Amino acid sequence: MAKAFTHAAATLVLTFILVQINYSEQLQSSQAQTLIRIQRLLNNPSVLSSWNSSTEFCNTEPSSSLTVVCYEESITQLHIVSNKGARMLPLNFSMDSFITTLVSLPDLKVLTLVSLGLWGPLPGKLTRLSSLEILNMSSNFLYGAVPQELSSLTSLQTLILDENMLSGRLPDWLGSLPVLAVLSLRKNLFNGTLPNSFSNLDNLRVLALSHNHFYGEVPDLNGLTYLQELDLEDNALGPQFPKLGNKLVKLVLSKNKFRSGIPDELSSYYQLQRLDLSFNKFIGPFPPSLLSLPSITFLNIAENKLTGMLFDNLSCNVGLEFVDLSSNLLSGHLPNCLLSGSKNRVVLYARNCLATANENQHPSSFCQNEALAVGILPQRKKSKQASKAVLASGIIGGIVGGIILVGLVFLLARRINANKTIKKPQTRLIAENASTWYTSKLLSDARYISQTMKLGALGLPAYRTFSLEELEEATENFDTSAFMGEGSQGQVKVVKALPSTLNLSCSQMYRGRLKDGSFVAIRCLKMKKSHSTRNFMHHIELISKLRHRHLVSALGHCFECYLDDSSVSRIFLIFEYVPNGTLRSRISEGRAHRSLTWTQRIAAAIGVAKGIQFLHTGIVPGVYSNNLKITDILLDQNLVAKISSYNLPLLNENTGKVGHGAAAGSSVDPTTNTSAKHEDKVDVYDFGLILLEIIVGRPLNSKNEVGTVKDQLQAAIAADGAARRSVVDPAVNKSCLDQSLKTMMEICVRCLHKNPADRPSVEDVLWNLQFAAQVQDAWRGDSQSSEGSPISASQPPQLHLGLR
Ligand SMILES: *[C@@H]1O[C@H](CO)[C@@H](O)[C@H](O)[C@H]1NC(C)=O
Ligand SMILES: *[C@@H]1O[C@H](CO)[C@@H](O)[C@H](O)[C@H]1NC(C)=O
Ligand SMILES: *[C@@H]1O[C@H](CO)[C@@H](O)[C@H](O)[C@H]1NC(C)=O
Ligand SMILES: *[C@@H]1O[C@H](CO)[C@@H](O)[C@H](O)[C@H]1NC(C)=O
Ligand SMILES: *[C@@H]1O[C@H](CO)[C@@H](O)[C@H](O)[C@H]1NC(C)=O
Repeated sequence: MAKAFTHAAATLVLTFILVQINYSEQLQSSQAQTLIRIQRLLNNPSVLSSWNSSTEFCNTEPSSSLTVVCYEESITQLHIVSNKGARMLPLNFSMDSFITTLVSLPDLKVLTLVSLGLWGPLPGKLTRLSSLEILNMSSNFLYGAVPQELSSLTSLQTLILDENMLSGRLPDWLGSLPVLAVLSLRKNLFNGTLPNSFSNLDNLRVLALSHNHFYGEVPDLNGLTYLQELDLEDNALGPQFPKLGNKLVKLVLSKNKFRSGIPDELSSYYQLQRLDLSFNKFIGPFPPSLLSLPSITFLNIAENKLTGMLFDNLSCNVGLEFVDLSSNLLSGHLPNCLLSGSKNRVVLYARNCLATANENQHPSSFCQNEALAVGILPQRKKSKQASKAVLASGIIGGIVGGIILVGLVFLLARRINANKTIKKPQTRLIAENASTWYTSKLLSDARYISQTMKLGALGLPAYRTFSLEELEEATENFDTSAFMGEGSQGQVKVVKALPSTLNLSCSQMYRGRLKDGSFVAIRCLKMKKSHSTRNFMHHIELISKLRHRHLVSALGHCFECYLDDSSVSRIFLIFEYVPNGTLRSRISEGRAHRSLTWTQRIAAAIGVAKGIQFLHTGIVPGVYSNNLKITDILLDQNLVAKISSYNLPLLNENTGKVGHGAAAGSSVDPTTNTSAKHEDKVDVYDFGLILLEIIVGRPLNSKNEVGTVKDQLQAAIAADGAARRSVVDPAVNKSCLDQSLKTMMEICVRCLHKNPADRPSVEDVLWNLQFAAQVQDAWRGDSQSSEGSPISASQPPQLHLGLR
């Protein structure tokens, strides 16, 4: 597990400290100056607040956030770790000059620069730190490729660049760093196949590449005898199970495209503590011996197509804390040893064919049919050819399996129908199985959502299918007291979800309360014409991907079907419930005490911009022309802004191409090429309108009025602070810093530019908003010293950063 490695790394670091702290002496004055320069280049972060020109750096007390270690007048270790979630450094920061300064500490062996807001490409001149052994620059905003020059850092043992925005393929030379023991590149935007040269990393102990876009087969790692941790979660690797040494402690392959069987060798991994194979398409028998591996504590095989019988009398490792077998094709009896054991053990096994009344088990015929459909031979031969055959039929089987499943549901529907005397003309059946199958596919496709964006979805429960019973219970049978509105007239609008071509006869919103106590908004869509569930899958898939902190996000769906022809009668879309009203209600309609402060307004604007950025770039193809209105921005209990109404691209049935929805804004003609180039700028304009209302604090009802107020803003920008204050909402004009206000006004005016090409990009907008928030924040933090502007008001950033 990670523990093992972190411990090793910590011991290493500690040894350095212990050995070298005794030698700490007077630092060369040039190095002391370098540190002071670094402090300034990092914009004086609070973690460095104790540094000044008279600090004796080598004699400072090391802490978890700040440590300087010296050896014979020279710095050998520098750790600066700021708070999680640090903002990007301002635009005048230059990664290049920062590294240029840093390399004048030539004896650095250990360098940790975490969460400092560093942004820019990683400069090749880092290689001048030729003694570097450990480098950890996690949680910054580094982008671009890993520079070729780093290949000459031959002493490098640990390279950690987690949680940045680095991209491109991994270079081959990584595999020839002679002493590399830890390579951790989690949560970046890397893609391509993994270099085969990884097979040569004889000293490798940790390889963590999770949450990237890697694809293809994993190189042969069988020879890496020290490899303890392999974390490849959430990429698109596969289909063959990787070849690995048996010293592994942690193996995470979840959310990839593995489609093979599980090799027998896995049962000999005596050190294995954590095994996660979930959300792949693994086929073939599940080896029950995995449950009794001597070190295993965590075993997750959920959402695969693993088959086999389980028995009461199987044995399990007593240390098992978590076992998830859900959504496979297992039959037989759940082992007794799983059910006894420690109280804190979690055991999940839903949606198999186990002989238990619990947790939605399928009839055993289901697992048999499915197993046949995925082409699993009862006894697989170990020769290469056999496994290829299985693989091929596995791929075909996946497709056939899907079809058979739909067929099964259909048959089931018929059967029930035949057995019942018809009491009501239309009874219903929920196509639960079909949609469960579909959900797992959705999740495996979710890689199209870029990783940084996916972070935005954190905090939401996993997307799932709901049963109708659950929804009825949540709304007390769709009682009128739960009714929130109809069509777009409703108080709370959620998502122009499905296109008009699907012939909705009505659409209603209900508020519901789930068993776990959480509130949800349920949109019920009633169909006029009959469609099968397949017609909706494309849309459901898109809806399930549009999950983000700043969107009112879908939690799941539920189909209600007619029994006679199994066509869909109603679709329910379940969304998070956002309780705190619209943005307008807290800006221009709110009574004074409810009105948002200036800081809250900027935060709301940043939220909306991030939501737009996600719609444009977080999903392929992007969702443009969302016709955004301030009344479609909802606030949650923490006043986090969420876009509640967005425009889904729909599949054009004739050409198979993806076009834009009927709700597209009118300001652009989508047929001409010139406007297609600026498709993102329609939303930027709409955002400008929202910003305008946020600034002036009243609704602007006509184009003329918008034009007039925009001109006022323009004039105020060029005039003085007093002029600007006269334009801004009186509710906030005492509390906003002039520089912050000016930046907001400028970006607002630019968003409202007539010519789409002249409007800023969403990234540019975000930069400016964050800048406005930052100066406001810094000023408030400065204990309100003087009414003027204590921050030297630098030119607000105009540059468009090509971050992605
Ligand atoms: C960047 O600008 C800030 C003010 O916004 C200023 O305090 C800082 O010194 C500048 N940094 C550099 C490296 O010029
Ligand atoms: C430097 O910081 C120390 C405390 O960290 C303080 O006692 C000292 O007065 C400061 N010196 C200057 C020149 O600011
Ligand atoms: C990188 O450094 C940070 C701060 O010390 C630490 O929390 C993190 O675990 C390190 N990364 C790895 C992979 O050890
Ligand atoms: C990999 O990423 C790079 C840079 O982000 C991009 O240009 C390239 O098209 C990507 N390649 C693939 C195959 O996705
Ligand atoms: C466990 O039970 C199965 C069938 O009930 C039986 O065939 C098998 O021999 C038993 N194994 C042990 C170790 O008792």
